[in-house]
Amino acid sequence: MIVNVIWTSLLVLSTLTLAVLSLPTTSITEEVKNKDDFNPEMDDDVPADRYLTHEEMITWLNSIARRYPKKAKTFSIGKSEEGRDLLVLELSHSVGRGERDLLMPMVKLIGNIHGNEVVGRQLLLRTISHLIQKDSVDPRVTRLLNTTDIFFLPSMNPDGFVKAREGDCWSGGPEGGRLNAKNIDLNRDFPDQFKPEDKLLRSQSELLQGRAAETQAVIRWIKNNPFVLSASLHGGAVVASYPYDGSDTDQLQGYYSASPDDRVFRKLSQDYADRHPLMKKADTCGVGFPDGITNGARWYDLKGGMQDFNYVHSNAFEVTLELSCCKYAPAADLPAEWEYNRKPLLNYIASTHRGVRGLIIDKDTKRPIRDAYVHVSGIDKNITSTERGEYWRLLSPGRYTIQSFAEGYIPSASRSISITDIYTEQVNFELESKFPRKTISRLVCN
Ligand SMILES: *[C@@H]1O[C@H](CO)[C@@H](O)[C@H](O)[C@H]1NC(C)=O
Ligand SMILES: *[C@@H]1O[C@H](CO)[C@@H](O)[C@H](O)[C@H]1NC(C)=O
Ligand SMILES: [Zn+2]
Repeated sequence: MIVNVIWTSLLVLSTLTLAVLSLPTTSITEEVKNKDDFNPEMDDDVPADRYLTHEEMITWLNSIARRYPKKAKTFSIGKSEEGRDLLVLELSHSVGRGERDLLMPMVKLIGNIHGNEVVGRQLLLRTISHLIQKDSVDPRVTRLLNTTDIFFLPSMNPDGFVKAREGDCWSGGPEGGRLNAKNIDLNRDFPDQFKPEDKLLRSQSELLQGRAAETQAVIRWIKNNPFVLSASLHGGAVVASYPYDGSDTDQLQGYYSASPDDRVFRKLSQDYADRHPLMKKADTCGVGFPDGITNGARWYDLKGGMQDFNYVHSNAFEVTLELSCCKYAPAADLPAEWEYNRKPLLNYIASTHRGVRGLIIDKDTKRPIRDAYVHVSGIDKNITSTERGEYWRLLSPGRYTIQSFAEGYIPSASRSISITDIYTEQVNFELESKFPRKTISRLVCN
């Protein structure tokens, strides 16, 4: 039930709440398989203690989609410079229904943008395996998959990955596998609001111009889908790092480059760190991060990163999750990494249900309005609606005033809403056209 939403307008259509899923489940010991037992065509489990090769990963993802067509689907968003598929697995009950349910939010998880940072890649595979197997066993997983459209891109840089070597904790050069096959650092390759030459880029073709194949594929994916939440998984530190990564200063470190949604980003990051036994310790890997989280630029300023691009050029909020001190950690560390990250990751996915969502429709025709937007007082970041009139606005707990706008329409009245940790609020808007269709009876002279 909604108790705390105060309607300051008559344009209320309907309301609905969904309790924010509080995942994940209690510790479940999963069978640790012998290395040689793994059959990527048949097995639901991925090995707990070794990395899959690129080929095994592709085979396994496709076999999951083939064997679970009601909840899983694979598709390629493009190819790497050397022609390897950037394969995405979509996991949701909406897959079986043929279309994403109205107002079902989309979340993406991207691993291995740096080819030698591999723990996240393997953890995403285990997350898929876990969700597939716990669906219809654990009611929270069932509910998560029935209400959330989850997309996994376990390896964004497969060309770098095939060069990287297990146990290599640090190498950052071309030989180490961090970069793509053209020696481009993909997490420096995105258009950046703070780069003078990128500031004027608007159309999709301008944004794509001159970028690596992998970057282009991900830019298109981001621009063409209404993602709400995202995570980019890295290694080399243990911290949750949030936008902005870049700033207008020349300061390399120490400058806090806050985005308008600093509170939301801190909440998402802290939720992760608090559930991760090492991240929250703050001195893991010998670097001090109070509470296990940091503003990206404050840690070190970087331009062209993926997380800033998501926030500036789409509705998606992305956090960078640094998961291990050693970038290509020994496979023997993987079972522990899964234990550390399982709860934080599942909870992060469920965070897609934070805040407020709703439909924006035309008052007269009742048709959805696309590219309408929702403005929250005091937060200079507007969220735009989909072609089905849907919006999702992540918010941290608190009271807010929200309003909806669309070109050619009279702005909605302001609504006061109260966001809690427990519910997802739904606020729909009916907007009145500035050019109402008037019916005037025709003059008739008999
Ligand atoms: C899943 O969602 C559908 C559509 O929203 C709903 O009808 C159904 O009851 C849900 N099933 C479960 C198991 O929650
Ligand atoms: C968001 O919308 C409000 C209301 O129309 C507007 O004043 C503000 O400039 C917009 N902010 C951005 C970043 O576009
Ligand atoms: Zn990285």
